[in-house]
Amino acid sequence: MVVINTTRQYHKTSSIDLTKEFTICESFACLDSPYMIALKKPEPYGALIGNLLIAANILKPGTKILEAGGGYGSLMKGLLGTYLPLVRHVYMVDISKALLNIQRKNLSPWKKFTTFINADITEVMHAVSNIDLIILNEVIGDLDTWTGLEAKNLPDDAARMVENYHLDIPSEGTFNFNMGAISLIEKICKKGIPVFISEHSSDPIIPKDMTFLEKDLELDSFPREIKLYGHSEFTIRFSHLIQIAKAWHRNTITGPTSELVGLKNTQQMRFIFTMHACATEKQEIIFEILDHIREYRWLVIY
Ligand SMILES: C[S@@+](CC[C@H](N)C(=O)[O-])C[C@H]1O[C@@H](n2cnc3c(N)ncnc32)[C@H](O)[C@@H]1O
Repeated sequence: MVVINTTRQYHKTSSIDLTKEFTICESFACLDSPYMIALKKPEPYGALIGNLLIAANILKPGTKILEAGGGYGSLMKGLLGTYLPLVRHVYMVDISKALLNIQRKNLSPWKKFTTFINADITEVMHAVSNIDLIILNEVIGDLDTWTGLEAKNLPDDAARMVENYHLDIPSEGTFNFNMGAISLIEKICKKGIPVFISEHSSDPIIPKDMTFLEKDLELDSFPREIKLYGHSEFTIRFSHLIQIAKAWHRNTITGPTSELVGLKNTQQMRFIFTMHACATEKQEIIFEILDHIREYRWLVIY
């Protein structure tokens, strides 16, 4: 039986504590975060995303940005703190009123450059226009996931997506399908707006010089449930998003989030991870961030 996992009610009604979710954005939100010891060149996460988008010639003078699901607003704070001269305006769209209030407070130094909209991005995407860049950081895993799909007996809507975009699915048995994420990316591709995405991945990429991070990690699987406080999210099959982008004649670049943030790759870090050797708090922090970030992947569609 197909069951749809949705987090709408949770996000609309709960007082959300993102420290319980251990997002990469919060881990590297500011220079005094303890996790910064793992980076070669510490910079706030928003600035690191900015570096990537500038290199891809997507963030340039006059850019109008829409960030959906901005959490505490930390990514945008880092981006505006470093690259304000390139940004004309930012629209923060979030389903959670409580988080939107925190974003408003954290982004108050840039009041005249920011607008806050309480909405479900999947419901308002059709109305989005005049935007040069969409940011979806750790959001699409929260969108509807169809669980328990039978490979040989797909519901009509899922079968249509699989056929139209030639999505690879298991040949038999049951699997989970990122219907919400896939539909949103389809809408964005149809509009031709460049988008930056980062999320837990069911098909993560491990940097060539960090293969020790592959230990017990599924590299080519289908969305798995991540149980969190009060709700569940699912990992994203990035190859499905890339198929959709290609079908709409969009370009893609993708890679491991560990590389995007410039993770150090020292012998000591390798030892800590491989042996789970954590005698000090610093070593615990390194193990924790390596174990967490290795499953993350980013994708830019432009
Ligand atoms: C896991 S948090 C990530 C927050 C932040 N981007 C980060 O990386 O720390 C998910 C965010 O997406 C928002 N969200 C979830 N579903 C949404 C939807 N359908 N439309 C808009 N925002 C949504 C939540 O309220 C929250 O701000």
